[in-house]
Amino acid sequence: NLYQEKRRPQFHFTSRRGWVNDTNGMVYHNGKYHLFYQHNPYGWNWGNMTWGHAVSTDLVHWEEWGDAIHPDQMGTIFSGSAVVEHDKSSSAGSEDESKCFVGINSLANEKNSSGFRTGSEEPIVAFYTSAGNNSPWSRGVPFTQSIAYSNDGGRTFTKYEGNPIIGEIAGGTRDPKVFWHDSTGRWVMVLWIENDKFSIFTSDNLINWRIQSDIKGFFECPEMFELPVDGDPSNTKWVVYGAAGDYKLGDFNGTEFTPETGKIKFQHGKNFYASQTFNNIPDSDGRRIQMGWGRGIDMPDMPFNQMILFPVSLTLHTTEQGVRMFKNPVKEISKLHNRHWDWQSQEVSTGENPLSDVSGELFRIKAVLEPRGADKVEFVIRGTPVTYDVSSEQLTCLGSSAPVSLKNGKLTLEILADRMSIEIFAQNGRYYMPIGADLTENPKSLELCSEGGNAFVESMDVYTLKSIWT
Ligand code: FRU
Repeated sequence: NLYQEKRRPQFHFTSRRGWVNDTNGMVYHNGKYHLFYQHNPYGWNWGNMTWGHAVSTDLVHWEEWGDAIHPDQMGTIFSGSAVVEHDKSSSAGSEDESKCFVGINSLANEKNSSGFRTGSEEPIVAFYTSAGNNSPWSRGVPFTQSIAYSNDGGRTFTKYEGNPIIGEIAGGTRDPKVFWHDSTGRWVMVLWIENDKFSIFTSDNLINWRIQSDIKGFFECPEMFELPVDGDPSNTKWVVYGAAGDYKLGDFNGTEFTPETGKIKFQHGKNFYASQTFNNIPDSDGRRIQMGWGRGIDMPDMPFNQMILFPVSLTLHTTEQGVRMFKNPVKEISKLHNRHWDWQSQEVSTGENPLSDVSGELFRIKAVLEPRGADKVEFVIRGTPVTYDVSSEQLTCLGSSAPVSLKNGKLTLEILADRMSIEIFAQNGRYYMPIGADLTENPKSLELCSEGGNAFVESMDVYTLKSIWT
Protein backbone atom coordinates (compact mmCIF):
# COMPACT_ATOMS: atom_id res chain seq x y z
CA ASN A 1 0.00 0.00 0.00
CA LEU A 2 1.42 3.40 -1.07
CA TYR A 3 2.61 5.71 1.71
CA GLN A 4 2.11 3.04 4.37
CA GLU A 5 5.77 2.09 4.92
CA LYS A 6 6.99 2.03 8.48
CA ARG A 7 8.95 5.31 8.35
CA ARG A 8 6.68 7.16 5.89
CA PRO A 9 5.84 10.58 7.41
CA GLN A 10 2.07 10.70 7.72
CA PHE A 11 1.41 14.45 7.47
CA HIS A 12 4.52 15.69 5.65
CA PHE A 13 5.27 15.47 1.96
CA THR A 14 7.75 12.83 0.83
CA SER A 15 8.21 11.44 -2.68
CA ARG A 16 6.98 7.93 -3.39
CA ARG A 17 10.55 6.92 -4.10
CA GLY A 18 14.00 8.47 -4.43
CA TRP A 19 15.83 11.38 -2.89
CA VAL A 20 14.34 14.85 -2.17
CA ASN A 21 16.07 18.11 -1.20
CA ASP A 22 15.22 21.80 -1.79
CA THR A 23 11.67 22.99 -2.36
CA ASN A 24 11.44 24.61 -5.81
CA GLY A 25 8.99 26.48 -8.02
CA MET A 26 6.41 27.05 -5.29
CA VAL A 27 3.44 28.77 -6.90
CA TYR A 28 -0.33 28.97 -6.55
CA HIS A 29 -2.22 28.63 -9.83
CA ASN A 30 -5.96 28.16 -10.45
CA GLY A 31 -6.79 26.74 -7.04
CA LYS A 32 -3.72 24.54 -6.72
CA TYR A 33 -0.53 24.88 -4.73
CA HIS A 34 2.36 23.57 -6.81
CA LEU A 35 5.36 22.22 -4.98
CA PHE A 36 8.37 21.21 -7.03
CA TYR A 37 11.47 19.81 -5.41
CA GLN A 38 15.04 18.74 -6.06
CA HIS A 39 14.67 15.06 -6.76
CA ASN A 40 16.71 12.01 -7.65
CA PRO A 41 14.14 9.72 -9.25
CA TYR A 42 16.71 6.93 -9.58
CA GLY A 43 18.35 6.69 -6.18
CA TRP A 44 18.16 7.06 -2.42
CA ASN A 45 21.06 9.59 -2.36
CA TRP A 46 21.48 12.99 -4.01
CA GLY A 47 22.09 12.88 -7.79
CA ASN A 48 20.46 13.11 -11.27
CA MET A 49 18.82 16.36 -10.19
CA THR A 50 15.32 16.61 -11.64
CA TRP A 51 12.31 18.70 -10.60
CA GLY A 52 9.82 16.44 -8.86
CA HIS A 53 6.27 17.79 -8.60
CA ALA A 54 3.41 17.55 -6.11
CA VAL A 55 0.12 19.43 -6.00
CA SER A 56 -2.31 20.31 -3.22
CA THR A 57 -5.58 22.18 -2.92
CA ASP A 58 -5.22 22.72 0.84
CA LEU A 59 -1.45 22.74 1.63
CA VAL A 60 -1.92 19.59 3.68
CA HIS A 61 -2.90 16.76 1.30
CA TRP A 62 -0.42 16.28 -1.57
CA GLU A 63 -0.68 14.39 -4.82
CA GLU A 64 2.59 13.50 -6.49
CA TRP A 65 2.51 14.18 -10.24
CA GLY A 66 5.11 12.98 -12.72
CA ASP A 67 8.55 14.60 -12.66
CA ALA A 68 8.28 18.04 -14.26
CA ILE A 69 11.72 19.03 -15.58
CA HIS A 70 14.39 16.52 -16.59
CA PRO A 71 18.18 16.84 -17.09
CA ASP A 72 19.44 17.64 -20.58
CA GLN A 73 22.73 18.39 -22.36
CA MET A 74 22.89 21.77 -20.56
CA GLY A 75 23.02 20.08 -17.19
CA THR A 76 20.97 18.53 -14.45
CA ILE A 77 18.14 20.68 -13.07
CA PHE A 78 19.10 22.56 -9.91
CA SER A 79 16.90 24.76 -7.73
CA GLY A 80 14.73 27.65 -8.85
CA SER A 81 11.29 29.17 -8.68
CA ALA A 82 8.09 29.66 -10.67
CA VAL A 83 5.68 32.50 -11.39
CA VAL A 84 2.31 32.76 -13.06
CA GLU A 85 2.66 35.21 -15.94
CA HIS A 86 -0.35 37.33 -15.06
CA ASP A 87 -2.10 40.35 -16.54
CA LYS A 88 -0.93 42.87 -13.95
CA SER A 89 1.86 44.55 -15.94
CA SER A 90 1.99 48.32 -15.49
CA SER A 91 -0.25 48.37 -12.44
CA ALA A 92 1.94 51.10 -10.89
CA GLY A 93 1.06 54.77 -10.67
CA SER A 94 -1.65 57.07 -9.43
CA GLU A 95 -5.30 56.59 -10.21
CA ASP A 96 -5.13 58.95 -13.17
CA GLU A 97 -2.08 57.27 -14.49
CA SER A 98 -3.58 53.85 -14.03
CA LYS A 99 -6.50 54.94 -16.19
CA CYS A 100 -4.04 55.76 -18.95
CA PHE A 101 -2.44 52.40 -18.35
CA VAL A 102 -5.64 50.49 -19.01
CA GLY A 103 -4.91 50.51 -22.72
CA ILE A 104 -1.31 49.61 -22.21
CA ASN A 105 -2.35 46.89 -19.81
CA SER A 106 -4.62 45.10 -22.18
CA LEU A 107 -2.06 45.55 -24.91
CA ALA A 108 0.52 43.93 -22.67
CA ASN A 109 -1.83 41.01 -22.15
CA GLU A 110 -2.47 40.55 -25.80
CA LYS A 111 1.22 41.02 -26.41
CA ASN A 112 1.93 38.06 -24.10
CA SER A 113 5.30 39.63 -23.31
CA SER A 114 7.23 36.39 -22.84
CA GLY A 115 5.49 34.80 -25.81
CA PHE A 116 4.95 31.61 -23.80
CA ARG A 117 1.18 31.77 -23.54
CA THR A 118 -0.68 29.64 -26.06
CA GLY A 119 -4.22 29.45 -24.65
CA SER A 120 -6.66 31.18 -22.36
CA GLU A 121 -4.87 30.12 -19.18
CA GLU A 122 -2.04 32.10 -17.63
CA PRO A 123 1.17 30.08 -18.02
CA ILE A 124 3.34 28.83 -15.17
CA VAL A 125 6.89 29.92 -15.92
CA ALA A 126 9.68 28.09 -14.09
CA PHE A 127 13.25 29.35 -13.66
CA TYR A 128 15.94 26.80 -12.84
CA THR A 129 19.67 26.37 -12.92
CA SER A 130 21.08 24.25 -15.70
CA ALA A 131 23.85 22.65 -13.67
CA GLY A 132 26.35 22.03 -16.44
CA ASN A 133 29.15 19.64 -15.66
CA ASN A 134 26.86 17.79 -13.31
CA SER A 135 26.02 14.83 -15.49
CA PRO A 136 27.85 12.65 -18.00
CA TRP A 137 25.96 14.30 -20.87
CA SER A 138 26.79 17.90 -19.87
CA ARG A 139 30.49 17.55 -19.09
CA GLY A 140 32.48 20.77 -19.56
CA VAL A 141 29.29 22.88 -19.82
CA PRO A 142 29.00 25.89 -17.40
CA PHE A 143 26.21 26.62 -14.87
CA THR A 144 23.55 28.83 -16.48
CA GLN A 145 19.92 29.87 -15.80
CA SER A 146 17.01 28.53 -17.87
CA ILE A 147 13.23 28.62 -18.30
CA ALA A 148 10.56 25.96 -18.74
CA TYR A 149 6.87 26.91 -19.06
CA SER A 150 3.51 25.20 -18.87
CA ASN A 151 0.22 26.07 -20.57
CA ASP A 152 -1.69 23.16 -19.05
CA GLY A 153 -1.64 24.00 -15.36
CA GLY A 154 1.71 22.33 -14.72
CA ARG A 155 0.83 18.96 -16.29
CA THR A 156 3.66 19.34 -18.83
CA PHE A 157 6.57 21.76 -19.20
CA THR A 158 8.32 22.95 -22.34
CA LYS A 159 11.90 24.17 -22.15
CA TYR A 160 12.35 27.61 -23.72
CA GLU A 161 14.18 27.30 -27.01
CA GLY A 162 16.36 30.34 -26.22
CA ASN A 163 17.86 28.79 -23.05
CA PRO A 164 19.96 29.74 -21.22
CA ILE A 165 18.43 33.13 -20.41
CA ILE A 166 21.43 34.03 -18.22
CA GLY A 167 24.84 32.68 -19.20
CA GLU A 168 27.79 31.81 -17.00
CA ILE A 169 28.57 34.37 -14.26
CA ALA A 170 30.67 32.43 -11.74
CA GLY A 171 31.46 28.72 -11.42
CA GLY A 172 28.35 27.57 -9.57
CA THR A 173 25.92 30.51 -9.90
CA ARG A 174 22.44 29.17 -9.17
CA ASP A 175 18.95 29.13 -7.64
CA PRO A 176 17.01 31.95 -9.39
CA LYS A 177 14.08 33.26 -7.31
CA VAL A 178 11.70 35.32 -9.46
CA PHE A 179 8.75 37.39 -8.21
CA TRP A 180 6.48 40.19 -9.35
CA HIS A 181 7.25 43.65 -7.96
CA ASP A 182 3.98 45.53 -7.99
CA SER A 183 5.04 49.15 -7.52
CA THR A 184 7.58 49.12 -10.37
CA GLY A 185 5.42 46.75 -12.46
CA ARG A 186 8.35 44.48 -13.24
CA TRP A 187 9.69 41.01 -12.60
CA VAL A 188 12.59 40.70 -10.17
CA MET A 189 15.11 37.86 -9.92
CA VAL A 190 17.46 37.21 -7.01
CA LEU A 191 20.29 34.86 -7.92
CA TRP A 192 23.09 33.35 -5.85
CA ILE A 193 26.28 34.36 -7.66
CA GLU A 194 29.15 33.00 -5.51
CA ASN A 195 30.47 33.07 -1.92
CA ASP A 196 28.17 35.36 0.08
CA LYS A 197 26.75 37.32 -2.85
CA PHE A 198 23.23 37.49 -4.32
CA SER A 199 22.50 39.76 -7.32
CA ILE A 200 19.19 41.41 -8.16
CA PHE A 201 18.01 41.48 -11.79
CA THR A 202 14.87 42.98 -13.35
CA SER A 203 12.86 42.13 -16.46
CA ASP A 204 9.75 43.20 -18.38
CA ASN A 205 9.24 39.96 -20.25
CA LEU A 206 10.75 37.20 -18.04
CA ILE A 207 13.37 36.48 -20.71
CA ASN A 208 15.74 39.46 -20.84
CA TRP A 209 17.28 40.30 -17.47
CA ARG A 210 19.24 43.38 -16.43
CA ILE A 211 21.56 43.26 -13.42
CA GLN A 212 20.78 46.01 -10.89
CA SER A 213 22.59 45.50 -7.57
CA ASP A 214 24.03 43.02 -5.05
CA ILE A 215 23.06 41.76 -1.60
CA LYS A 216 25.82 40.50 0.66
CA GLY A 217 25.79 37.94 3.44
CA PHE A 218 23.90 34.90 2.13
CA PHE A 219 24.70 31.49 0.60
CA GLU A 220 22.51 29.60 -1.93
CA CYS A 221 18.73 29.56 -2.46
CA PRO A 222 17.83 33.28 -2.30
CA GLU A 223 14.39 34.32 -1.09
CA MET A 224 12.97 37.84 -0.86
CA PHE A 225 9.49 39.24 -0.11
CA GLU A 226 7.58 42.04 1.59
CA LEU A 227 5.58 41.63 4.80
CA PRO A 228 3.45 43.98 6.89
CA VAL A 229 4.67 44.72 10.42
CA ASP A 230 2.11 43.77 13.07
CA GLY A 231 -0.43 43.24 10.29
CA ASP A 232 -0.39 46.91 9.21
CA PRO A 233 -0.34 47.10 5.39
CA SER A 234 0.91 50.71 5.50
CA ASN A 235 4.04 49.65 7.39
CA THR A 236 5.98 46.96 5.58
CA LYS A 237 9.50 45.60 5.49
CA TRP A 238 11.34 43.40 3.03
CA VAL A 239 12.82 40.12 4.15
CA VAL A 240 15.87 38.51 2.50
CA TYR A 241 17.27 35.11 3.35
CA GLY A 242 19.41 32.32 1.94
CA ALA A 243 19.36 28.55 2.30
CA ALA A 244 20.04 28.60 6.07
CA GLY A 245 16.92 30.74 6.61
CA ASP A 246 18.53 33.41 8.79
CA TYR A 247 17.29 36.76 7.50
CA LYS A 248 17.85 40.50 7.16
CA LEU A 249 15.05 43.06 7.18
CA GLY A 250 15.20 46.18 5.05
CA ASP A 251 13.77 48.23 2.23
CA PHE A 252 13.51 47.42 -1.48
CA ASN A 253 12.82 49.97 -4.21
CA GLY A 254 12.58 47.55 -7.10
CA THR A 255 16.27 47.62 -7.93
CA GLU A 256 18.17 47.72 -4.64
CA PHE A 257 17.79 46.16 -1.19
CA THR A 258 18.87 48.39 1.71
CA PRO A 259 19.31 46.33 4.88
CA GLU A 260 18.12 47.79 8.18
CA THR A 261 19.35 44.91 10.33
CA GLY A 262 22.23 42.47 10.50
CA LYS A 263 21.53 38.81 9.90
CA ILE A 264 18.99 37.51 12.42
CA LYS A 265 19.12 33.87 13.48
CA PHE A 266 15.81 32.13 12.97
CA GLN A 267 16.18 28.39 12.54
CA HIS A 268 17.54 26.24 15.32
CA GLY A 269 18.76 22.68 15.08
CA LYS A 270 20.33 20.90 12.12
CA ASN A 271 17.35 19.95 10.01
CA PHE A 272 16.20 23.12 8.24
CA TYR A 273 17.52 24.17 4.80
CA ALA A 274 16.67 25.60 1.39
CA SER A 275 13.11 26.85 1.87
CA GLN A 276 11.06 29.14 -0.30
CA THR A 277 7.66 30.79 -0.25
CA PHE A 278 4.70 30.56 -2.64
CA ASN A 279 4.36 33.09 -5.42
CA ASN A 280 0.95 34.31 -6.59
CA ILE A 281 -1.02 33.65 -3.39
CA PRO A 282 -4.31 35.57 -3.88
CA ASP A 283 -4.55 38.98 -2.14
CA SER A 284 -7.70 37.75 -0.41
CA ASP A 285 -5.53 35.20 1.40
CA GLY A 286 -2.52 37.45 1.84
CA ARG A 287 -0.33 34.91 3.62
CA ARG A 288 3.37 34.35 3.00
CA ILE A 289 3.60 30.57 3.08
CA GLN A 290 6.93 28.80 3.32
CA MET A 291 8.01 25.19 2.90
CA GLY A 292 11.55 23.93 3.36
CA TRP A 293 13.66 20.81 3.17
CA GLY A 294 14.01 18.78 6.37
CA ARG A 295 17.70 18.33 5.64
CA GLY A 296 19.44 15.29 7.07
CA ILE A 297 16.28 13.43 8.09
CA ASP A 298 17.40 10.07 6.71
CA MET A 299 14.87 7.32 6.03
CA PRO A 300 16.73 4.05 6.57
CA ASP A 301 15.38 0.98 4.75
CA MET A 302 12.80 3.09 2.91
CA PRO A 303 12.38 3.44 -0.89
CA PHE A 304 12.51 7.25 -0.39
CA ASN A 305 14.81 9.61 1.51
CA GLN A 306 14.47 13.05 3.21
CA MET A 307 11.22 14.96 3.83
CA ILE A 308 9.62 18.36 3.31
CA LEU A 309 8.82 20.31 6.48
CA PHE A 310 5.25 21.29 7.36
CA PRO A 311 4.07 24.51 5.60
CA VAL A 312 4.26 27.59 7.78
CA SER A 313 2.94 31.11 7.54
CA LEU A 314 5.49 33.93 8.05
CA THR A 315 4.66 37.21 9.80
CA LEU A 316 6.54 40.22 11.24
CA HIS A 317 5.93 41.46 14.77
CA THR A 318 7.44 44.14 16.96
CA THR A 319 9.35 42.67 19.91
CA GLU A 320 11.53 44.15 22.64
CA GLN A 321 14.49 43.49 20.29
CA GLY A 322 12.88 45.20 17.31
CA VAL A 323 10.88 43.70 14.45
CA ARG A 324 11.26 39.93 14.14
CA MET A 325 9.91 37.23 11.83
CA PHE A 326 7.57 34.61 13.29
CA LYS A 327 6.46 31.33 11.78
CA ASN A 328 3.50 29.15 12.59
CA PRO A 329 2.00 26.04 11.00
CA VAL A 330 -0.63 26.92 8.40
CA LYS A 331 -4.15 26.94 9.83
CA GLU A 332 -5.18 24.15 7.46
CA ILE A 333 -3.53 21.74 9.90
CA SER A 334 -6.84 21.71 11.77
CA LYS A 335 -8.23 19.58 8.91
CA LEU A 336 -6.13 16.75 10.33
CA HIS A 337 -7.42 17.00 13.89
CA ASN A 338 -8.66 13.70 15.22
CA ARG A 339 -9.01 13.19 18.99
CA HIS A 340 -8.81 16.28 21.21
CA TRP A 341 -8.00 16.78 24.88
CA ASP A 342 -7.79 20.14 26.63
CA TRP A 343 -6.71 21.52 29.99
CA GLN A 344 -7.10 24.89 31.63
CA SER A 345 -5.52 26.45 34.75
CA GLN A 346 -3.92 23.36 36.16
CA GLU A 347 -0.99 22.80 38.50
CA VAL A 348 1.67 20.33 37.33
CA SER A 349 3.25 18.75 40.40
CA THR A 350 6.59 16.99 40.22
CA GLY A 351 6.13 13.29 39.62
CA GLU A 352 2.70 13.72 38.04
CA ASN A 353 1.76 13.39 34.37
CA PRO A 354 -1.44 15.20 33.39
CA LEU A 355 -1.17 13.56 29.94
CA SER A 356 -1.25 9.97 31.19
CA ASP A 357 -4.57 9.26 29.44
CA VAL A 358 -3.34 10.38 26.03
CA SER A 359 -2.22 7.86 23.46
CA GLY A 360 -1.51 8.26 19.74
CA GLU A 361 0.99 8.21 16.92
CA LEU A 362 0.79 11.70 15.38
CA PHE A 363 0.36 14.75 17.58
CA ARG A 364 -0.25 18.47 17.59
CA ILE A 365 0.28 20.06 21.00
CA LYS A 366 -0.46 23.70 21.84
CA ALA A 367 0.35 24.87 25.33
CA VAL A 368 0.77 28.02 27.39
CA LEU A 369 2.84 27.11 30.43
CA GLU A 370 4.22 28.96 33.42
CA PRO A 371 7.30 27.29 34.90
CA ARG A 372 6.66 29.15 38.24
CA GLY A 373 8.55 27.17 40.91
CA ALA A 374 10.02 24.60 38.50
CA ASP A 375 13.64 24.56 37.26
CA LYS A 376 12.64 22.51 34.26
CA VAL A 377 9.46 21.86 32.33
CA GLU A 378 9.45 18.98 29.93
CA PHE A 379 7.19 17.39 27.33
CA VAL A 380 8.14 13.82 26.57
CA ILE A 381 6.75 13.12 23.12
CA ARG A 382 6.65 9.44 22.37
CA GLY A 383 9.73 8.95 24.55
CA THR A 384 11.57 12.05 23.24
CA PRO A 385 12.09 14.94 25.69
CA VAL A 386 11.50 18.56 24.70
CA THR A 387 12.92 20.39 27.70
CA TYR A 388 12.76 23.99 28.84
CA ASP A 389 15.47 24.90 31.33
CA VAL A 390 14.44 28.00 33.28
CA SER A 391 17.82 29.24 34.51
CA SER A 392 19.67 28.87 31.15
CA GLU A 393 16.56 29.88 29.13
CA GLN A 394 17.21 27.03 26.68
CA LEU A 395 14.71 24.87 24.86
CA THR A 396 16.36 21.55 23.96
CA CYS A 397 15.40 18.49 21.93
CA LEU A 398 17.78 15.67 20.92
CA GLY A 399 20.92 17.77 21.27
CA SER A 400 19.57 20.88 19.49
CA SER A 401 18.80 24.00 21.52
CA ALA A 402 17.23 27.39 21.04
CA PRO A 403 17.60 30.36 23.40
CA VAL A 404 14.02 31.14 24.47
CA SER A 405 13.15 33.80 27.06
CA LEU A 406 9.89 33.60 28.97
CA LYS A 407 7.39 36.33 28.23
CA ASN A 408 5.55 37.56 31.34
CA GLY A 409 6.66 34.31 32.94
CA LYS A 410 5.09 32.25 30.14
CA LEU A 411 6.32 29.69 27.67
CA THR A 412 4.10 29.19 24.63
CA LEU A 413 4.78 26.00 22.69
CA GLU A 414 3.36 24.38 19.61
CA ILE A 415 4.75 20.95 18.74
CA LEU A 416 4.03 18.77 15.71
CA ALA A 417 5.11 15.15 15.98
CA ASP A 418 5.13 12.87 12.94
CA ARG A 419 6.78 9.46 12.61
CA MET A 420 10.21 10.90 11.71
CA SER A 421 10.18 14.48 13.02
CA ILE A 422 9.32 16.86 15.82
CA GLU A 423 8.76 20.51 14.83
CA ILE A 424 8.80 22.99 17.70
CA PHE A 425 7.41 26.53 17.53
CA ALA A 426 8.09 28.54 20.68
CA GLN A 427 6.75 31.89 21.91
CA ASN A 428 4.04 32.10 19.23
CA GLY A 429 6.45 31.17 16.46
CA ARG A 430 9.34 33.47 17.28
CA TYR A 431 11.65 30.45 17.66
CA TYR A 432 11.50 27.48 15.33
CA MET A 433 13.25 24.14 15.71
CA PRO A 434 12.52 21.25 13.33
CA ILE A 435 14.16 18.03 14.52
CA GLY A 436 14.59 14.68 12.82
CA ALA A 437 13.46 11.98 15.25
CA ASP A 438 12.63 8.36 14.44
CA LEU A 439 9.67 7.71 16.74
CA THR A 440 8.50 4.57 14.99
CA GLU A 441 9.64 2.11 17.67
CA ASN A 442 8.69 4.37 20.58
CA PRO A 443 5.75 4.30 22.99
CA LYS A 444 2.57 6.08 21.88
CA SER A 445 2.44 8.17 25.01
CA LEU A 446 2.85 11.81 26.03
CA GLU A 447 4.15 13.24 29.29
CA LEU A 448 4.32 16.69 30.76
CA CYS A 449 6.51 16.99 33.84
CA SER A 450 8.03 19.61 36.08
CA GLU A 451 11.27 19.34 38.01
CA GLY A 452 12.35 21.19 41.15
CA GLY A 453 8.89 22.60 41.88
CA ASN A 454 5.38 22.90 40.53
CA ALA A 455 4.64 24.39 37.12
CA PHE A 456 1.31 25.70 35.86
CA VAL A 457 -0.65 25.02 32.69
CA GLU A 458 -2.59 28.09 31.66
CA SER A 459 -4.05 26.24 28.68
CA MET A 460 -3.20 23.13 26.71
CA ASP A 461 -4.71 21.43 23.68
CA VAL A 462 -3.56 18.03 22.46
CA TYR A 463 -4.78 16.59 19.18
CA THR A 464 -3.98 13.32 17.52
CA LEU A 465 -3.71 13.86 13.78
CA LYS A 466 -5.05 11.92 10.82
CA SER A 467 -2.74 10.71 8.07
CA ILE A 468 -2.82 12.78 4.88
CA TRP A 469 -2.42 9.63 2.81
CA THR A 470 -5.66 7.85 3.73
C1 FRU B 1 20.94 23.66 -1.81
C2 FRU B 1 21.51 23.30 -3.18
C3 FRU B 1 21.19 24.38 -4.18
C4 FRU B 1 21.23 23.62 -5.48
C5 FRU B 1 20.63 22.31 -5.09
C6 FRU B 1 21.14 21.14 -5.83
O1 FRU B 1 20.62 22.56 -1.04
O2 FRU B 1 22.90 23.09 -3.09
O3 FRU B 1 22.08 25.47 -4.14
O4 FRU B 1 20.51 24.26 -6.49
O5 FRU B 1 20.89 22.14 -3.71
O6 FRU B 1 20.41 19.99 -5.53
